[in-house]
Amino acid sequence: MVSLIVGAQWGDEGKGKIVDLLSRDADIVARYQGGANAGHTLVIDGTKYVLHLIPSGILHSHVQCVIGNGVVIDPVALMEEISMLEQHGISMHGRLFISHRAHLIMPYHKLLDAAREKAASAKDAPTKRKHAIGTTGRGIGPAYIDKVSRTGIRIVDLLDRSRFIEKLRTNIREANMLLSQVYDGEELDADAIADEYCQFDTRIDPYITDTTLFLHEARRAGKRILLEGAQGAMLDVDHGTYPFVTSSNPTSGGASTGLGLPPTAISCILGVVKAYSTRVGNGPFPTELHDSIGEQLRSIGYEFGATTGRPRRCGWLDAFALRYSVIVNGITELAVTKIDVLDSFDEIKICTGYRLNGKLQRTMPADAEVLERVEPVYEVLRGWKTPLAGIRRYEDLPQEAQIFIARIEELSEARVRIISTSPDRADTIVRDGQ
Ligand code: GDP
Ligand code: IMO
Ligand code: MG
Repeated sequence: MVSLIVGAQWGDEGKGKIVDLLSRDADIVARYQGGANAGHTLVIDGTKYVLHLIPSGILHSHVQCVIGNGVVIDPVALMEEISMLEQHGISMHGRLFISHRAHLIMPYHKLLDAAREKAASAKDAPTKRKHAIGTTGRGIGPAYIDKVSRTGIRIVDLLDRSRFIEKLRTNIREANMLLSQVYDGEELDADAIADEYCQFDTRIDPYITDTTLFLHEARRAGKRILLEGAQGAMLDVDHGTYPFVTSSNPTSGGASTGLGLPPTAISCILGVVKAYSTRVGNGPFPTELHDSIGEQLRSIGYEFGATTGRPRRCGWLDAFALRYSVIVNGITELAVTKIDVLDSFDEIKICTGYRLNGKLQRTMPADAEVLERVEPVYEVLRGWKTPLAGIRRYEDLPQEAQIFIARIEELSEARVRIISTSPDRADTIVRDGQ
């Protein structure tokens, strides 16, 4: 049985909490795309863990974790994360499996990411674009560029040291030309990087395997497998608000290519959606609020990036974007998170559609500039004005909160199975049956 957990908005929906919760009944949790741009927060009995690369099932000692071929791996970030978990007494031994086909993030990817962003925001740079994307600076875009242009360095390359050094030298020569001649930056020392990465080689070695085969055999043995998406559908390089997106496919299709699992293997697709909307970085955000309500959402929801610490932009729930996300991902059920953040509001708004030049839109505009200009159409619901944290049964939610959930179901055409009422694993309502 393979289930997929996917972000239905612009990332940071609370995927980490939901994956951790569902890991109780899983044997394997696998990440399929993205890299250390992700920041997945787990809170267990008041202790907080932020994971960037390692799947959010790792805190359950019976769960094995896979980092699939579609992930771009920064060994520095990976080693830091392994050390952090080991300090908490969590062992990776026999529990972490890294695809030999996954690509490595190299120091020049991070430098190029930063240099491109800087040039895009500089007033007079020759390479100036209209807007910086506001990336996490983790080298994600440049690493996927190398992958697609077939010059990337993969985990498997670490196993043959002389070939690895040769590829690294070639790539650094090219990166140095870009860094110094186009971006006016410092050049990198190939020898120092080769030494550093050859040390990772011995540390990563025990985890490297053919994860495609591993997952195939696990499926045959009837194991319960959870696939963990990073980012969210609206940041998908194909289906999101291009060019203000990440460089991978967080949507459900990416799970198949990013792990070598056939699409037919996936039987349940759970979309995670926040009870309102947030976005980090630049790009269109139709329901964004620039007023005191936006401020309240940010402070009550503590909306600051788990990876970069940047304040997240906040706004009302966009059910039009959610419906699009349900369609693109094939979401069969939803987990609504952070509903408690709305506890104190008199009125709660939900965006049901977009209007452009007075006309209601049928589909999600493909053009980011058009999306910047749409006007959200709102429906107003009454707030419940009482704390929801601690409620364990759906029937015990105040009527206004049940109406809010029912509207999400009607507008998205997906059933809400899970409702999260605080960061803690324990504060979650799971509805059973249909
Ligand atoms: P992810 O990237 O989708 O895993 O989400 P993040 O971890 O980046 O951001 C979600 C934030 O909301 C984290 O700080 C979580 O601890 C927190 N969170 C998750 N669920 C809830 C909830 O139901 N209520 C509240 N108040 N916070 C939550
Ligand atoms: P999780 O998994 C929210 C955003 C960045 C930027 C854009 C491109 O925690 O939900 P990148 O560094 O990927 O090239 O940046 O995508 N972004 C995220 N926003 N949550 C994330 O991950 C994100 N990962 C990338 O802010 O706008
Ligand atoms: Mg996050």
